[in-house]
Amino acid sequence: MKILVVVLMAVTWAELSGALDNGLALTPPMGWLTWERFRCNLDCVNDPYNCISQNLLMQMAELMAEEGYLNAGYNMISLDDCWLAHERDEQGRLQPDPDRFPSGIPALANFVHGKGLKFGIYEDLGTKTCAGYPGVLGHLQTDANTFAEWGVDYIKLDGCYSSQEEMDEGYPQFGMYLNNTKRPIVYSCSWPAYQNDPNYTAIINSCNLWRNFNDIADSWTSVTTIIDHYGDNQDVLAPLAGPGHWNDPDMLIIGNFGLSYDQAKTQMAIWSILAAPLIMSVDLRDIRPEFKYILQNQRVIAIDQDPLGIQGRRFKKSGSIEFWLRPVTPVDNDNHSYAVGILNRGDSTPTKVIYATLKEKEG
Ligand code: GLA
Repeated sequence: MKILVVVLMAVTWAELSGALDNGLALTPPMGWLTWERFRCNLDCVNDPYNCISQNLLMQMAELMAEEGYLNAGYNMISLDDCWLAHERDEQGRLQPDPDRFPSGIPALANFVHGKGLKFGIYEDLGTKTCAGYPGVLGHLQTDANTFAEWGVDYIKLDGCYSSQEEMDEGYPQFGMYLNNTKRPIVYSCSWPAYQNDPNYTAIINSCNLWRNFNDIADSWTSVTTIIDHYGDNQDVLAPLAGPGHWNDPDMLIIGNFGLSYDQAKTQMAIWSILAAPLIMSVDLRDIRPEFKYILQNQRVIAIDQDPLGIQGRRFKKSGSIEFWLRPVTPVDNDNHSYAVGILNRGDSTPTKVIYATLKEKEG
């Protein structure tokens, strides 16, 4: 214990100043997103149950409200790619695919709001979305206004089909147009994920959250690669996070096919230590109870949502064992409490993450 306290004092928990202050995302956003689980499934004829459609969103919104997710803090549901029609309308405005979204986006947003949830949508800064649908480049103001008129509360703006210069100019501009609508819209950027040497000063000034790294896939290897990225780059990444502005290691894949029960607990634990957005991408219609329990674990969510908003760090790595620490409330006489994650990545025993909150002691 003595050693732990001494080393703790040497860790820097500083946060960068000068970040976006639009009053939103004061704790990491929590919600549900279509992408990792449902991808770009367009086949509503042969696979009506799983295709990207208004029905899918409405079913998930109902389950979020009825099955305890909303109460646990997951208060947003979002479309990802593949909701758009291939052409803009005669006025140059975006429109959804008419077969899969016959009621239109405002009606869907209304339905979602009626369930007590925020409504999110996906677009891309470039000429096209990653899946090839119309992007916002050349239409930034029109599209920001359209989203506000439709009742959008959260936008994920991807970075496919745009150059470094277009991103450096376009992401702040789109953020400005969103602010000008006066509608509170959480702004999720993918800007740094597409650059080798991102200008984080500009990024934290414009975005509420940002993807830094590769897309998550439904596997333990993908989860550990992401954990390593945030551990290996923590001196750059951790100080960027704080109330209103968060690093985004990508969606929770808990409840899908790739993670065991213990691996799923690990993703939830490390994401919470990282002050990560908790964005599920799972079929809530048939999720197993043990995974639902992990996703709704109030004690772990409380760590993720800690109001200090300090991103935790990999404090020690010794063979296959890692110690992760995050300063959290309560703060007593300037001393933080700490959330601790102990991760065993060895092959011979099950991976376990154990939580504890330690009081930092003087000396
Ligand atoms: C990129 C993003 C993913 C998803 C897809 C959609 O790969 O990183 O999260 O939005 O595009 O095409």
